[in-house]
Amino acid sequence: MCGIVGITSNKEVTTRIVNSLKKLEYRGYDSAGIATLNDGFIKEVKCEGRVEVLEKNITSSNLQGEIAIGHVRWATHGRPSTINAHPHSSETVSVVHNGIIENSTILKKILEKKGYNFKSQTDTEVIAHLITDYLKKNNLKNTIIKVLKKLHGSFALGIIFKDYPDLIVGARRGSPLAVGYGPNENYLGSDSYALKSMTNKVSYLNDGEFCLIKDNQVEFFDTNGIKVNKKILNLSQDNQDNDKGDYKHFMAKEIDEQPTTIKNCVNEYIDKINKQINIYNFPWKINQINSIVLIGCGTAYHSCLVAKYWFEEYTSLDVSIDIASEFRYRKLKFKSDCLYVFVSQSGETADTYAALDICKKNKMKTCSIVNVIESSIARDSNLVLPIHCGPEIGVASTKAFLGQMLVLYILCLKLSFDQKIITKKIYQEKIKNLLSLSNLCKKTLLTDNKIQKASKEFIKAKGSMFLGRGYSFPIALEGALKLKELAYVHAEGYPAGEMKHGPLALIEEGMPVVVLAPRDNHYKKTISNMQEVIARGAKVLLVTNKSKDEIQSENIWEKIEVENLTEDLFPFLITVPLQKLAYYSALQNGYDIDKPRNLAKSVTVE
Ligand code: F6R
Repeated sequence: MCGIVGITSNKEVTTRIVNSLKKLEYRGYDSAGIATLNDGFIKEVKCEGRVEVLEKNITSSNLQGEIAIGHVRWATHGRPSTINAHPHSSETVSVVHNGIIENSTILKKILEKKGYNFKSQTDTEVIAHLITDYLKKNNLKNTIIKVLKKLHGSFALGIIFKDYPDLIVGARRGSPLAVGYGPNENYLGSDSYALKSMTNKVSYLNDGEFCLIKDNQVEFFDTNGIKVNKKILNLSQDNQDNDKGDYKHFMAKEIDEQPTTIKNCVNEYIDKINKQINIYNFPWKINQINSIVLIGCGTAYHSCLVAKYWFEEYTSLDVSIDIASEFRYRKLKFKSDCLYVFVSQSGETADTYAALDICKKNKMKTCSIVNVIESSIARDSNLVLPIHCGPEIGVASTKAFLGQMLVLYILCLKLSFDQKIITKKIYQEKIKNLLSLSNLCKKTLLTDNKIQKASKEFIKAKGSMFLGRGYSFPIALEGALKLKELAYVHAEGYPAGEMKHGPLALIEEGMPVVVLAPRDNHYKKTISNMQEVIARGAKVLLVTNKSKDEIQSENIWEKIEVENLTEDLFPFLITVPLQKLAYYSALQNGYDIDKPRNLAKSVTVE
């Protein structure tokens, strides 16, 4: 999704803007651009497509400057094109923008009547002309205060000015924005990841704030222009490298990293000597929590769905789950004895952040389960439980999904034990099982040949189904989501028992169907559902666990067996073959696996 970088310095900056934009490429984008001041004039270079193209255009136009703003765009208003790429500039002002200006049509009409000409179809261009217009009658600070109040919607902005040659203005409402500090230069970035190659000292803007950044000074203001003091924070140094190494794709690397990330996460939360869970900073007493709501989007939401089964089984809490984009618009009855848990890899997903914000405003207990600990969601929750899986670059979430499930499982065990629902013996047994999970996951990675073969059928089919019951149902949803987003194959995830209530009509000769049937409580019922689809011509790829008991069916097309473990942990293992199925299906089709079409890594618009 869109990304912003800005640098004001006393040295040339365009090369570093390009390098930082490259760091933001993983978020998914369709065009890129940069604006700088050159001989006292605003000069832009923009392109459709990759930052590499932008880099070539910058070299050929010999663009240089000691101040610049850069952007990668993920189209919302106006199709991806060079004209619609950011920055958008007037003669005196140039703007980059993440987010959506909801009243841009009205503002555009007013500005057009005043004689301003629009080149693009974007909502952003109104900001450049609005600032230009206000600057005619106001000083810079008042212009910013007034213009920001005119804008409806969400934004993170970076702005440079012809008449203030060393100044970048940053402003935030809804979309995250960070300021970085360097020697004789300062930076603006839509997340700290964009700035990490230049500094580890950052401050974050809160909602409604704006900042004036010069090479030797940074000032922050609230909505009304009152000065705000900011803490300078040190960014964490993650040791994981962000290179693909010998892998063709980040996704393949991230799937293979899962045993390591499970191990790291378990090490962070489990005291192996005393066999107990350490969440040192848990801020509430157990009797202050009677219910729990788990909230996320996409894959993160699926981790909440799996966790619902755990919380129902092991705690006496009332458990509900919600998709963040729905939660934010529901008529909610907030309960002070409820814990609201927000799950997000990036920690910047706009819908999840908005859901957190509503809970915060209602003074609820909030906990976030995130990968990026400097993220907005982490910063604004009462309790942060990191998933410790290192940077995830592939757009499709893989290792973060396992990490999210793992932390939810650990939180569930802690609450269960504190509530005295499970005995110390069972608690410690479950901790012991967690310690073996990494190794079992490693063995599950060795199932490549069968999956590669199966993927050929999936890409040929006009549709496919993923079926499971209990814990396996959300994993079926996740498997189907992965296949859709990476291989562009229509796939439906369904509770296996629901098939006869409608979707069975879709099954026809040769349709590939994934059946998730580890030997758990639901095993026999799921196998019966499997027979029903086989009887109607489906080609079944069965994912089960290793066992001495033979499965009573002759017509299974392909079978993948994961390692044996207690049934509540099966979701961790049966996910892996489905990630690989999506990966190989996309690979066979020659698709851009790490950056699937139309998608973005960090979804910072609604
Ligand atoms: C799918 C995927 C998305 C994300 C969703 C939430 O593979 O990656 O569905 O899970 O956009 O993102 P985060 O976890 O960053 O809030």
